[in-house]
Amino acid sequence: MAEEKKRLLTGLQPSGQLHIGNYFGALKPFLDVYDDYESFLCAVDYHALTTVRDPKQLSQNTLAIVRDYLAAGVDPKKATIFKQSDVSAHTELAWIFNCITPMAFLELAHAYKDAAGKGKEATAGLMTYPTLMAADIVLYDTDIVPVGEDQRQHIEYAREIVSKFNRAFGDTFKEPKELILKDVAVVPGTDGRKMSKSYGNTIPLFGTKDEITKAVMSIVTDSKGERPEYVYAIHKLVRRESELESVYENNKNNYKALKEALIEDLGQRFGPMCERRKNITDAQIIQILRDGGERAKAISEAKMKTVRARIGVEGNYYDIS
Ligand code: ADP
Ligand code: TRP
Repeated sequence: MAEEKKRLLTGLQPSGQLHIGNYFGALKPFLDVYDDYESFLCAVDYHALTTVRDPKQLSQNTLAIVRDYLAAGVDPKKATIFKQSDVSAHTELAWIFNCITPMAFLELAHAYKDAAGKGKEATAGLMTYPTLMAADIVLYDTDIVPVGEDQRQHIEYAREIVSKFNRAFGDTFKEPKELILKDVAVVPGTDGRKMSKSYGNTIPLFGTKDEITKAVMSIVTDSKGERPEYVYAIHKLVRRESELESVYENNKNNYKALKEALIEDLGQRFGPMCERRKNITDAQIIQILRDGGERAKAISEAKMKTVRARIGVEGNYYDIS
């Protein structure tokens, strides 16, 4: 009999345009291996609700992110693509996890501390973000979660939360492992800090030529050496370092030419994906989400039956094995 495939799951928030940090940190590592696993790709719209307050924008972003997954090459026949809010088990399980997770533990989470530190409204949603993320992952008995370095702590939190659940109520959930690729764990943005929507230092993955040109031209050129390090750090993601040697050697101190070469190489790399993106219709996306949602619901409902029985909210909990 064929060996059962392990499960792979990742999620991206539909909170704005995807950038190349998201691609190299999460989407590409997913794409590289997803065919070897039973794979799930989730548009986590309830997580995005912690920052997006415009209903039209949230629903449009959600369609857009699924269009991005498809354009990047995810085959909906090989991965279950779904939207978090379509599967109510996620928020149900998050509540259950909230009831066993100490506040002090959640207050220590980097993402929460950063947001609160930046003066953002510290909502209960932001604080309990990790319990919802843990639910997203463990509902599917996920083995591996491809993410960027900034999500490492969230996966550690997921392990802590489920191990606490398992100790309290019996072995129910698998402890997931992160998949973080060293070379792309932190893709730098145009200012050298981690590329992030919230820093406004991104290079959009599916930007127009003008948007990409504007972003690349704004890369801060550190004048320490002959080579602009921030430009190079991004460049080596889209072109072999062995090829870049001569480009950088021939254009020492000519930052403009190097940036132009980067724009060209970004176009080469992402142009075909942009073309593919144009031909994906809303109707296709809606059908994919419908199918993916049904499948995700079937799996997560089966899990929730056990969970409800274990915690004592289902009538027939005496006969669980
Ligand atoms: P952002 O910081 O722009 O809001 P998200 O938090 O939505 O990005 O991240 C979605 C996924 O992309 C996560 O797995 C995250 O680790 C990854 N990611 C985001 N930015 C980067 C980056 N600069 N380098 C590597 N991975 C990243
Ligand atoms: N917190 C992740 C981010 O900001 C998104 C996310 C939510 C996620 N649920 C997930 C990632 C489950 C992986 C698995 O990027």
